[in-house]
Parts: sequence; C-alpha cells; structure tokens
Amino acid sequence: MDTNKTLSRRGFVGSLAAAIGYLGLGPKSVLWAQTGRRPRRRYTEAEYDAFAKLSSNENPYGPSDAVLEAMNHAFKYANRYGYPDGNILQAIAEHHGVEPENVLLGAGSGEILNIVGSTFLRVRKKVVGVEPSYGSVYRQASGIKADAIKLPLLSDYRQDIPAIIDGTKKNYRDVGFVYMCNPNNPTGVIVTKKEIDTLLDGIPEDMPVLVDEAYHHFVEDPDYATAVPHVLEGRQVIVARTFSKISGMAAIRLGYAIAPKNLIDQMRPNGTGSISAIAKWGGATAIKDTAEQEKVRAVTLELRKKTTAELEKLGFDCIPSETNFFMVHLGRQVQPVIDEFRKRTVLVGRPFPPMLEHLRVSVGTADEMERFMVAFKEIFPDGKPAPTGA
Ligand SMILES: Cc1ncc(COP(=O)(O)O)c(C=O)c1O
Repeated sequence: MDTNKTLSRRGFVGSLAAAIGYLGLGPKSVLWAQTGRRPRRRYTEAEYDAFAKLSSNENPYGPSDAVLEAMNHAFKYANRYGYPDGNILQAIAEHHGVEPENVLLGAGSGEILNIVGSTFLRVRKKVVGVEPSYGSVYRQASGIKADAIKLPLLSDYRQDIPAIIDGTKKNYRDVGFVYMCNPNNPTGVIVTKKEIDTLLDGIPEDMPVLVDEAYHHFVEDPDYATAVPHVLEGRQVIVARTFSKISGMAAIRLGYAIAPKNLIDQMRPNGTGSISAIAKWGGATAIKDTAEQEKVRAVTLELRKKTTAELEKLGFDCIPSETNFFMVHLGRQVQPVIDEFRKRTVLVGRPFPPMLEHLRVSVGTADEMERFMVAFKEIFPDGKPAPTGA
C-alpha cells in the first residue's frame, strides 16, 4: 500500500470534515449546496421494500422472465474480459434500422446525457432547453462550468418551439446543443413530429439536438414520432433511449444513443465503456421482447387513466400525460404534501420548480396506486383544491 497516498488522503478528508463541522453542516448538506440537488435518502432494505415507490418513474414489474434468463446466462462470463456480449450493438442497430456505428451504449441513458454534455458543452458552451425538464442535463452543464438557456413552458405545458429556435439562433456561437425531452419529464407532454421538423428546419443544420426518448414506449398520441429517422437523414440528431423504463432494468444500468457516425465518434471517448455482461445480455433480449413491452405498456396506461380519472372526479386537474407518470395540480405547495405521503409510506415525485403546486406521480402496480389514492384522500379530505389561479 502507498502509505503516503493514504496519509495525504486522510489528511484531506480530515480537513474537509473539520470544515464541515465548523460550518455545522453534515456531508449531505454540503453535497446539496454544491449540486443544488437534495441528496437521495438511503433507507434500510426493510424500509425501502415497504414503500409504494411512485417517485422515480420506474417500471414496478422488473425484467421479463426471458430477460432474467439471459442475464443469468451471462453470469458464466462474470470472471472474463472480452466475452461474447449477446450481440447487443447489432440488436439495437437492427431494431432501429441503423448501423452498429450509429449506436453508443451507456450505463443508463443518464450516462448518454452526460456524454453529450461533456462532448458538446466544452469551452463554456450552453445547452438550450425548457424548464421544467429532466434536470440532469442542466445539472451536468453547471458541473462542468457550462451554462443553460432554460425557456419556460407554454401555458398548456407544451415546449415553446419558436422560443427554442430563437434562443438557439440568437446565441448560435455559444450554444453546444439543444435538449428536448420527448415526452417531457415531469409533465408527460409530447413534442409532435411536426414540431420536431419545425425545430430542425429552424436552427442551423450543424447544431446538435439531443432528443431524450426515455418514455417513448408509453406514447399513444398519433402526432408523436421518434426522431430516429432524422438520424438516418443525416441530421445532427442524437436520440437517447433507456432500458430502465419499459424493460424494467433501471438498476442494471443500460441505455444508448442513436446518432450519425460523426457525432458518435466525438462522443465515444467521453463514455466509460463500462457496461456489464449482465446488462448487455439482458438488453439484447429485452429489445426484442415486444410481448412484454406491450404488457407493461397496457397495464401502465390503464392504471394511469384510472388514477387520473379518480383524481379528476375529486376535483383535481391532471396534465394529460403520454408516459408512465402524470402531474396533478394540488392548489397548494407540493413539498408538505410530499412529506405527508412519505409518512404514509408512499414515495412521490420531488418538487419541479417553477411548477410548485403540481405533484408528479409515477404509475406503480395496482396495489401501489390504491395506496396512493387512500393516502391522497387522507391528505385532501375535503376534495377539490381551493382556487389559487396557479
Ligand atoms: C427523461 C429521462 N431521461 C433519462 C433518464 C435516465 O434514465 P436511466 O439513466 O436510468 O436510463 C430518466 C430517468 O428517470 C429520465 O426521466
């Protein structure tokens, strides 16, 4: 062991701890202050398992039997490097009608979003997108001392395409890429195919556009379409997809980008390339498991519609969603309501500024949605929220 290194690291940690102690802050508060993000609470296994988990838009059913079998099979390579990988790249490429050179794997699509950030936001470039949206892109931008041009949503919660075009054109020299979450998290609202076309027609052709399609599989609206055809047309479009949602593999960590080769080549050096054999074999099976995808989609949409109809009946407006989550307007500040749900062992979404009177709820199992409704009626015994104009 290199004692000097150990000692110097101890010294560093010691002085950091002293500074934290001096300020009267715990390490979690420091992390929160540095990142602007509330640290995720860690629960014991028993506590965690007891929650109805409606906070992170996960798939409550987990991987299908076929995917579990493929992942089990992969354990025979657990001790190897350079093992057969289930042909994951080919499986993804075939699924989308692209070449393997158009595919980049990530440890979740979260890694893909980070790779796009570190590739295209160097030298203090800016990302253009809406707020609220999936915040990880903006957090990463501030982490690498880049910046974000965040535009407000329209009054019907759609993304303001003319404002995005305008913001991109006006700041063209400073913009590294445009971020578009479709459907958007946390609202569940889509950007139509026509709007994506308008965006691409309205911005310079060499501007990269990252379209985050994490919730693609849950969309019903016929006006929606994936942006993958734009990659085939040679536009500078990067589509991010994940196995975390429809395929129930969030903890296995697998996502990917589909993009033109020139963009993949720029992005690849910024990835870790650390995808496990388990993830690769599971993903190669999951992407073909359309029967399971249809099952998850059907039950999720049915439960979402049932729950939002019950809430509407109580007088609470829900934003029409095209995903496995939805937002309900509470007519009061959301944080105390989130705390009340937690007391009743139901985890719901965090606040999404500036929509601080809206609660985001993920669609869990039938039992979890029932627990949500029981808790909701306890927290709002009088039903309909007071009109606030918010
Ligand atoms: C819109 C969106 N993009 C990306 C991700 C990242 O997911 P993962 O890293 O599990 O693929 C999430 C996770 O909730 C998300 O909501």
